[in-house]
Amino acid sequence: MDSSQLKKIAEEHGTPVYVYSEELLIKNYRTFYSAFSKRYSKVKILYAYKANASLALCAILKKEGAGADVVSGGELLTAQKIGLAGRDIIYTNNSKTKEEIAQALDADAVINADSVPDLLKIQKTAEEKKKTAKISFRINPGVNPKTNAKIATGLKESKFGIHIEGDAAYTAYKTANGLDNIKITGVQTHIGSQIKEAAPFTEACEKIMEFALRLKKDLNLKLEYIDLGGGLGIPYQEEKIIKPDDLASAIVPVVEKWNKQLNYEPALWLEPGRYLVANTGMLLTTVQTVKETPYKKFINTDAGFNTLIRPAMYDAYHRIENIGREKEEKTEKYDIAGNICESGDLFAKDRLMPKTMPGDILALMDAGAYGYSMASRYNARLLPAEVLIRSNGKYELIREREKLEDQYKYQKIPKDLL
Ligand code: LLP
Repeated sequence: MDSSQLKKIAEEHGTPVYVYSEELLIKNYRTFYSAFSKRYSKVKILYAYKANASLALCAILKKEGAGADVVSGGELLTAQKIGLAGRDIIYTNNSKTKEEIAQALDADAVINADSVPDLLKIQKTAEEKKKTAKISFRINPGVNPKTNAKIATGLKESKFGIHIEGDAAYTAYKTANGLDNIKITGVQTHIGSQIKEAAPFTEACEKIMEFALRLKKDLNLKLEYIDLGGGLGIPYQEEKIIKPDDLASAIVPVVEKWNKQLNYEPALWLEPGRYLVANTGMLLTTVQTVKETPYKKFINTDAGFNTLIRPAMYDAYHRIENIGREKEEKTEKYDIAGNICESGDLFAKDRLMPKTMPGDILALMDAGAYGYSMASRYNARLLPAEVLIRSNGKYELIREREKLEDQYKYQKIPKDLL
């Protein structure tokens, strides 16, 4: 971390500001991709845009060879804007609108159906547009990913996908197989996020591969791909978490084992989000005041949970550095507070930091994933700028800070109130 450059960015573009590293992003992508591609010949990485859909970052990943996992018309448009072809886009959502389905059909993206009613809606839209929808189903394998309950999607009680249990998923494929305007291309699952061990992934993989074999035997279906979703965690607190290499060495043998019975080799698709972008980004914020109460010492910053909601929403831990004082001894215990008018707006509690002064710049680390993408305008605070430190060491603005006036752009006051 080059403290003087970060301070310069904060000064030039104001705070809060997100700062990303192109070099790290490329490194993460290559680490993830090569872990799988050195073990399996047909691998495709579809970056989960929900983690961070900023155009410049998506464009870097596209250049590296990544496709896109998108969940809305907005993310789909982003993938199209950077020039991704439909065959490199999968559109997944449990509650698709007709307009989004139409947009995905026009883009020729794969549409990942969440249920039979969802399939029928896709079929109807495709029929009206005289198109063939390339589909897979999102499968709920009933696997516990052992992560925060809010981001555990593979549980039986989850709102996502069709259960593999019983005949639900099988019946869905059977139904789709007989429909006009529908072409079955694969099978997809995503069991959760910030997963720390390999076991839930291999369990899900076993179930999906066994299911693929059933589709082959009973429906004579040959799938183009098996998509195991995203979910690999990162060490926010330097805890022990499997690496892409561990994940690939756990999953690929399972796929290969079942391939022998399948008698064909489907492509392996993966949808990492967090792993690729989380540690590439930090959120810089300026300390406004340091306040002591009889109970606590607070650092008040000019960011809030509207710019990094993870601590407030998931009790997530983010490392926090005081830029320029990183090497000083951490002697003081502070609660690090945001500027939002809610007592839950804390980035950290009882955190040991170097002695901190107003005007210091703090870096909330690992903010590249689910930082900007979950940011809001709560308290009429506008969305921050984003800056990219290029591989050549120079930095560029990739998104301007919103202006206060922007908040009135789409509002109207009824005439009689003027
Ligand atoms: N594919 C699907 C279908 C997903 O739903 C997700 C994440 C991913 C891929 C990417 O998962 P990742 O590799 O990033 O774990 N806001 C939460 C995380 C929500 C994840 C939602 N789905 C957080 O800040 O921790």
